Amino acid sequence: MDVYDAIRARRSERDYDSKPVPEDVLNRVLEAGRISPSASNYQPWHFIVVRDPERRKALTDGRYAKFLTQSPVVIVGLGDTKTSPEWHVVDTTIALQHMVIAATAEGLGTCWIGSFYEDRVKAALGVPERYRVVAMLAMGYPKEKTDIRSAIARPKNRKELKRILSFDKFAPPRPTVRAPSGRLRRKQ
Ligand SMILES: Cc1cc2nc3c(=O)[nH]c(=O)nc-3n(C[C@H](O)[C@H](O)[C@H](O)COP(=O)(O)O)c2cc1C
Repeated sequence: MDVYDAIRARRSERDYDSKPVPEDVLNRVLEAGRISPSASNYQPWHFIVVRDPERRKALTDGRYAKFLTQSPVVIVGLGDTKTSPEWHVVDTTIALQHMVIAATAEGLGTCWIGSFYEDRVKAALGVPERYRVVAMLAMGYPKEKTDIRSAIARPKNRKELKRILSFDKFAPPRPTVRAPSGRLRRKQ
């Protein structure tokens, strides 16, 4: 799958099939994280692949993380604060997003998880003090099978590029006005 197609096809998947992720597929996804860039090439990360159902359950305390009992794989991204005090969060995030795109290209569904209690996750997985839990990823085959062409074509609820972009120097987005219909529209 072309990288643009993978970026477009990706969406947060919260409903998973119980089918396990084959070892070779998982390894390719993890490799995509391993070779990602980091500040000064410090690689200040550690990833825990959580497959054991009991341990996965221990990660579901967050309000929006309940479906981690369903996803056959959870990847917990840890940032090493000692190795890179300044960039461990950015570097670990980049590696996790590489895994997300690779997983999409492999036909897997993923969902970023920021809804967790760090102290509880660390206790459940025996994570040493020096690491921060940056984020977790749910991963597995989506329950609902979507044809790849329609996944790519699916509209995305995002701000328009012109509202989030300037060239050469910062330009504030034009203010929105409320149309008589009540809908927000751009001021002309
Ligand atoms: C850093 C981060 C944390 C997130 N945390 C959660 C979460 O805890 N639970 C959840 O269901 N979705 C979570 N999401 C998914 C977002 O809600 C989702 O990416 C966003 O609504 C856009 O939808 P899409 O991913 O389907 O395009 C998170 C996304 C990011 C990037």
